Amino acid sequence: EKGTYPHFMLKEIDEQPLVMRKIIQAYQNEDGNLEIDSDIKQAMGATDRIYIIACGTSYHAGLVGKQLIEKLAKIPVEVHLASEFGYNMPLLSAKPIFIFISQSGETADSRAVLVKVKEMGHCAITITNVPGSTLSREADYTMLLHAGPEIAVASTKAYTAQVAVLAILASDAGAATGAKAELDVVKELGIVASAMETLCNSKEEFEKIATEYLAVAFDCFFIGRSVDYYVGLEGALKLKEISYIQAEGFAGGELKHGTIALIERHTPVIALATQFGVNGAIRANVREVAARGASTCIISMKGLETEGDRFVLPAVHELLTPLVSVIPLQLISYYAALHRGCDVDKPRNLAKSVTVE
Ligand code: F6R
Repeated sequence: EKGTYPHFMLKEIDEQPLVMRKIIQAYQNEDGNLEIDSDIKQAMGATDRIYIIACGTSYHAGLVGKQLIEKLAKIPVEVHLASEFGYNMPLLSAKPIFIFISQSGETADSRAVLVKVKEMGHCAITITNVPGSTLSREADYTMLLHAGPEIAVASTKAYTAQVAVLAILASDAGAATGAKAELDVVKELGIVASAMETLCNSKEEFEKIATEYLAVAFDCFFIGRSVDYYVGLEGALKLKEISYIQAEGFAGGELKHGTIALIERHTPVIALATQFGVNGAIRANVREVAARGASTCIISMKGLETEGDRFVLPAVHELLTPLVSVIPLQLISYYAALHRGCDVDKPRNLAKSVTVE
């Protein structure tokens, strides 16, 4: 039930700190460390390449997951859209394993790929919010999200739960592949949960940004580099699906290869700057669009901030920034949609789970 909330989406955004804590509890062993199923760990230790298959927001979580698994477990990862992979399968490695990411566990495009790879005899793991769902039953192993029911069509807490579970998978799989543990996941997810709380208590700020930048906008760009680019893709999807504003997530450095032609006076450009290695580069991209008249809004992270940044996120581990940087984007989308009179929880033309291919 919604309780005192006007919409499920807002309630589900607010539940994210609690979901982080539930995930820690669910994956904690007696020693207090986070642990995955020993069979999954063994499979991760034996594979030469992981194929992540998903759609929509879950695909965006998969992009972040690739980064986590490659950095923490040192296993190469490819991320594919289910609807593409099924019809145009890439050349597979010798010992592939498949990870299906699906909130509902019922997405037909993902299921079609799962059926195919099981026929080929490959190992499949499903990361889902719904125990007993089709994708869970048909895979060899399941990892649950523990996010609680997600009712709003626009996915919010499932995304952050997916990223957190992928971090746990990546970090514990690192033990199986002999990669040195670089992330104290219990501690860092705890810090993330507190940072999420701070953001959920800053709603007026994000409502103001929505009003200022998006009240009369026709389009909006989300730019970032590295993992911020992946979060930008998710921010754009959120904004499109609930506010119907044309939105695009873009890699900062790629703008000059064509898309910058779309920047006009007052075009909103929301930039994420949470990554040390590309902080200078993304800010240069912001200056490029600002010089063409864009209304720029920089969301940066404590330690990387510069004067003029519109919002500074509390600092979290560099690999886990998507868990916090996505929250402003969820809230900005929510308020933009609300102010435009859109049906936030049930956007037009969309269903919560897409059970047709
Ligand atoms: C966007 C959204 C969709 C889903 C996609 C996959 O907010 O909810 O893009 O992420 O349809 O759904 P699942 O994760 O259930 O497979």
